[in-house]
Amino acid sequence: MDIKWICAVTIILAWFCRASSAHQTSVEPPRNLQIIDPGLLGHLYIEWQPPPFLLTLDQCTIKYKLKYRSTGDADWKVVFTKKLKYGDGFDLSKRTEAKVQTLLEGRCTNESEVKSDWTHTTFQVPSQGELESQIRDFHCVYYNWEHLTCTWQLGQLAPAGARYELYYWYEGLDHTVQCSDYIQTHGRNTGCNLQNLRQAEYIDFNVCVNGSSESTQLRPSYFTFRLQNLVKPSPPEKLSVSISAYEEVHMEWSPPAGGTPPHCLDYEVQLTEHDGDADAPWTSVSTQVETTFTFSQANRSRVSCVRVRGKTNMFCASKGFWSEWTRKCFYVSRKDEKQLFILIAVALSFLTVIIIFIFAAQCKKSVLGKFHAPVGC
Ligand SMILES: *[C@@H]1O[C@H](CO)[C@@H](O)[C@H](O)[C@H]1NC(C)=O
Ligand SMILES: *[C@@H]1O[C@H](CO)[C@@H](O)[C@H](O)[C@H]1NC(C)=O
Ligand SMILES: *[C@@H]1O[C@H](CO)[C@@H](O)[C@H](O)[C@H]1NC(C)=O
Repeated sequence: MDIKWICAVTIILAWFCRASSAHQTSVEPPRNLQIIDPGLLGHLYIEWQPPPFLLTLDQCTIKYKLKYRSTGDADWKVVFTKKLKYGDGFDLSKRTEAKVQTLLEGRCTNESEVKSDWTHTTFQVPSQGELESQIRDFHCVYYNWEHLTCTWQLGQLAPAGARYELYYWYEGLDHTVQCSDYIQTHGRNTGCNLQNLRQAEYIDFNVCVNGSSESTQLRPSYFTFRLQNLVKPSPPEKLSVSISAYEEVHMEWSPPAGGTPPHCLDYEVQLTEHDGDADAPWTSVSTQVETTFTFSQANRSRVSCVRVRGKTNMFCASKGFWSEWTRKCFYVSRKDEKQLFILIAVALSFLTVIIIFIFAAQCKKSVLGKFHAPVGC
């Protein structure tokens, strides 16, 4: 009987040993994949649960490979994560697709990576209203990193009493906020001013312009952008021009006061040389980060003008708008003008000397003529 028991235990142990050294060669996909819209104007969460029957957790790491995109995008965004939730910004006027698979790697798989099949889901906000009731030409500019102004045109088929409203959200706000300072055209909202957005820079800024009308529903529009890419700085200040003895023109200016970080600016310098021609073309002479620029007045025009403008540089944003120009005109006396003066002066002196000589010679002749017979001078 003892031997029987020992045998039984040995067999069971052996089975366990075999089981634990057997390698996992397949894994199930995650369960319950879904896309959740928390009502934050485009910020969506993709969530899932771990696959069932994962016995060898302590010997293996489980990761998930998530891919997602909006319809029309050529490429999927790919994320590897150990978590069960991922959030990102989407265009809510498009359908969103997501798929996820389980990745298993470690001792339980003999150190090779085991992938599950994909599980797939899609999400789309139910569409409402006619396409032509949607606003058009939506533009935003973030002036001098201080205030954001967004404008739009009314929908082509906006009903007479339609009222459009702008809502926004960024990470850090509990809920969406409605614009409190509308720009109006003929009593209708066609824009919005927003201030105090420093904490919204460098993150997704989500906007929805929707509307209501008594007769019909209006199609909402969704936009996601980053404030730093919409900056129009104020023009450069205190532009001064000085001209050295060697006719080198030295320009100097200051970054605009206010919200624009000075290290975030690129400047463009342009020059025009004209003698009375006010429409002379401007020539771009430099694009630079520095706030000084020196050049030699090569063409030696009488009146020259310089102008400089600023734009957010690549260290602070991927794009931006140029500021207005700051300009200054100055006068440089021409080198050849001076030479001409000297030439004329020298010529005049010569002439004077010659005249004096001739005059003197004449006088000498007429004086001599008094003593000798006249020779017909
Ligand atoms: C585990 O992997 C090693 C190296 O790749 C291989 O030599 C070995 O045969 C594998 N063992 C099993 C049980 O597949
Ligand atoms: C417009 O969108 C906001 C934010 O999502 C929402 O609270 C509001 O009810 C919407 N208005 C209409 C008319 O759909
Ligand atoms: C100077 O004149 C030359 C020829 O007339 C022209 O090509 C050049 O652009 C001018 N330089 C500037 C700085 O205007």
